[in-house]
Amino acid sequence: ARPKILAGKKVVVTAGPTRERIDPVRFLTNFSSGKMGYAMAQAAAEMGAETILISGPVSLPVPSGVRRISVESAEDMLNAVKAEYASADVVIKTAAVADYRPITVEAQKMKKKEGGAAIELERTVDILQTLGQEKSHQLLIGFAAETNDVAHYAKGKLVRKNADYIIANDVSEAQAGFESDTNRVTVYGKDDFEYSFEMMPKDELARRLLQMIVEREALHDR
Ligand code: PMT
Repeated sequence: ARPKILAGKKVVVTAGPTRERIDPVRFLTNFSSGKMGYAMAQAAAEMGAETILISGPVSLPVPSGVRRISVESAEDMLNAVKAEYASADVVIKTAAVADYRPITVEAQKMKKKEGGAAIELERTVDILQTLGQEKSHQLLIGFAAETNDVAHYAKGKLVRKNADYIIANDVSEAQAGFESDTNRVTVYGKDDFEYSFEMMPKDELARRLLQMIVEREALHDR
């Protein structure tokens, strides 16, 4: 068995997509399967952490030793994360949260009409940025899904969202990012810290990521 280097710590992980309703039968979403976030939660639980997994709609079983809170929209996820934040030691934001949602949710199913149609969108709250602003003792780890200029955008998110680490995946790469069982990431941290992992299964990657961050932050001694 691996050493319980996160014993006594509370780790909150978000995973999966969000759904932003258009009407009672339609919604906006993305390709997140939840695999990366569930792997992070499983790794945290294996390392002895009290682990809360705040999950959008996915079809994965709850990893053993993990408490799951199921949510649907970005707003639900924000509220669920906020409720756990004060008592959390580490927050890992693997979820692919919608950046926009329909301004109005139609009460009835929208009917077809002649010609085109448009849905007006508004911004959702950036959960990671909100947590960054309200940070006290927590270690804040974000993910970044990019298709181009990965390093540039990931470093921007690190600063703008006041995160301690951003784990960036190039989702244009085959077998990395959304839906695949493997991933390849580069980790960016303060003081120009940068480390690239090889392509590997998401569960293995999750363990290596947590191990590295726990050791760098000397979390087990905090
Ligand atoms: O679920 P899988 O199929 O396994 O795929 C894994 C993954 C590709 C979803 C995952 O590895 C990943 O990259 N997750 C982050 C996806 C994302 O939304 O990235 P982003 O660059 O748009 O957002 C950056 C960070 O801000 C993320 O930590 C995100 O959770 C957070 N965010 C974004 C928008 C928002 N409204 N609130 C947020 O907190």
